[in-house]
Amino acid sequence: MSKRNILVTSALPYANGDIHIGHLVEYIQTDVWVRFQKLRGENCRYFCADDTHGAAITISANKQGVSEEEFIAKVNKTHREDFAAFGIEFDNYGSTNSPQTRRFCNEFWNKIVEAGLVVEREIEQFYDPVEKRFLADRFIRGTCPKCGRKDQYGDSCECGAVYSPKDLIDPKSVLSGATPELRKAKHLFIEVEKERAFLDDWISNSGALQPEIVNYLKGQFLSDELYPWDISRPAPYFGFEIPNYPGNYWYVWYDAPIGYVGSCLEWCEKNGEKIEDWWANPKTEIHHFIGKDITYFHTLFWPTTLKNVGFNLPTKVHIHGFLTVDGEKMSKSKGTFVLARSYQKYLDPEHLRYFFSSKTTGRVDDLDLNLEEFANKINADLVGVVVNLASRSAKFAHQTGLSAQYPDDGGLFAQAAEVSEEIAEAYETCDYGRAIRTILECAYRANQYVENAAPWTLNKQYNQALKDPNATDSQREEIKAKLQDVVTVSLNLFRQVAIYLAPILPEIAKKTGELLNAPITSWDEVKTPLLGVEVNEYKHMTARVSKEGITAMLEETKEIMGAVNDTNAATASKWNDSDQPLKDEPLAETITIDDFAKIDLRIGRIIEAEQVPEARKLLKLRVSLGGEQTRQIFAGIKSAYPEPEKLVGKLIVFIANLQPRQMKFGLSEGMVVAAGPGGKDVFLVSPDEGAMPGQRLH
Ligand code: MSP
Ligand code: ZN
Repeated sequence: MSKRNILVTSALPYANGDIHIGHLVEYIQTDVWVRFQKLRGENCRYFCADDTHGAAITISANKQGVSEEEFIAKVNKTHREDFAAFGIEFDNYGSTNSPQTRRFCNEFWNKIVEAGLVVEREIEQFYDPVEKRFLADRFIRGTCPKCGRKDQYGDSCECGAVYSPKDLIDPKSVLSGATPELRKAKHLFIEVEKERAFLDDWISNSGALQPEIVNYLKGQFLSDELYPWDISRPAPYFGFEIPNYPGNYWYVWYDAPIGYVGSCLEWCEKNGEKIEDWWANPKTEIHHFIGKDITYFHTLFWPTTLKNVGFNLPTKVHIHGFLTVDGEKMSKSKGTFVLARSYQKYLDPEHLRYFFSSKTTGRVDDLDLNLEEFANKINADLVGVVVNLASRSAKFAHQTGLSAQYPDDGGLFAQAAEVSEEIAEAYETCDYGRAIRTILECAYRANQYVENAAPWTLNKQYNQALKDPNATDSQREEIKAKLQDVVTVSLNLFRQVAIYLAPILPEIAKKTGELLNAPITSWDEVKTPLLGVEVNEYKHMTARVSKEGITAMLEETKEIMGAVNDTNAATASKWNDSDQPLKDEPLAETITIDDFAKIDLRIGRIIEAEQVPEARKLLKLRVSLGGEQTRQIFAGIKSAYPEPEKLVGKLIVFIANLQPRQMKFGLSEGMVVAAGPGGKDVFLVSPDEGAMPGQRLH
């Protein structure tokens, strides 16, 4: 059979953020599919890139005080590292900000314009007069016109309302805080409606889309007129300037999917291949893997572009759902918004590949990472069943090597080889969960075999025979041959499992190859037993998931994410403050506002401060309330402020209506407010700049 030409992409991650475990759902799903195709011997290539354009990039770069180019270069490096750590292997990982992508942006544009799909229209949009730029909806916040909630996005509210930014009450620019102005600007639009007949047909009849996606598109989009697509943005904008339309740039979503082609071209240039052989060759299959949130762009807009430029339409758009952790949306405050880097520090990337795969069905449903289930599944299935198979036999096999002929195994090897196409079909349709279930059945049967054949007992017998002076050589040889046959069967059954799981577990596949001196290179190797080879010393293949690892990962995430607010974020975590002070002195009982009103706290300025030689702890202060009013206060702050003259001029807070108290050294007419347990650890409380002596605290 001739090889399939398969071009695969994952969505291009935005360059303004780190890779997190939600992203990894997609990149792992794609990588498994690609590895599967390559193992099957198909001519399959996997392309991706950073999505680098748009206003958000400029803002992030400005925050770091670097140019956009510097910013995206740094991100590109960390994205590559993160993917590599999870075994995600691209044939090329590029950037949309590349000459290759620009070339296709231009070429495609000419064709779309020629096809008569582009129109110019004037629209009104909010403009930030301070930052001097038009504002995307998410850079505007204000009060929801429906429910009155404050601080909501320009286009939608927590209450579920969706509206135009113009309807937002009291809108403010997120960038400058200024009130934005409505300004007119000319934009270019692509009239997608003109391609309705094509889209209708492609969506319904091509077989490229999952049935639930077809229904969604028919219900949400095709039932109505398709909106013209606003494709240009006025300067300043980080992106590609539109030819013959100076001062205007393509909207990031125009060039993002073209980045797939750009990345492929980079690879072609390095490998002496032609781009047409991949994108304009009817024999090439194009497979896009994306999340459900970007369905619109890949099923309406992108096919429209491809059709008009004469490139292949997607063979399949594989759309997946969103990740939840312990049944909830990933949350920064709960520590479940886990970055790839944090995960990798505490847990094994291959475990996530296995767990996500076990949950991957090929449908659009969301998938849940329940952390307890995760640990149980890895420890039970991967460690307890799969790897156990190797570890229990390999050490004996190291002494015996594998038999030259495949022994009678009661048909187990043949049975596992027989399900090869069933498993392959499950992989092909992204139903990795089903693939894993079928593979595990092979592994269960194999473990049962090992259990019954008990190589450890044979090994004991063999060692006894070696020591036994009465045993004959042929008796010894016989036991050894039996042991060798048993490990030959069990390691071959293990190897089948490792081959079947190789797309999901490339590391374990590699270690299996090293153990048996035979790298796994092809799917069909499940059909032929490995015989007559030496077996290397068994090296640890994977470890159990530790609860401590999970906890540490969540804690680290809370800390990192503390800086970023999400709903109900526990902002305290970012500062890493100890809970000791509160433990030392628990909160006092509740008082009413009237109780509080009895305490007259005032701002005062220390105008004199001196030692009280006879007192161990006290300083004598003169505190001004403004004008002529002053108070004499004895404060127990000597150890903490050994140089009283340095206090002169300082603003403090003190209780001004405390009954004066006669002390040995004089009258004390108030009490300064300070924190801390005492001794050297006493900290005077001062107001922010601008406060004036005599002002009351409310
Ligand atoms: N830059 C666009 C894609 C352009 S494609 C031409 C984008 N980037 S993204 O970084 O936000 O997302 C990249 C991919 O990761 C998307 O397919 C998105 O659906 C997926 N995921 C991001 N968060 C996710 C989860 N929490 N769960 C599952 N997939 C998620 O969109
Ligand atoms: Zn609302």
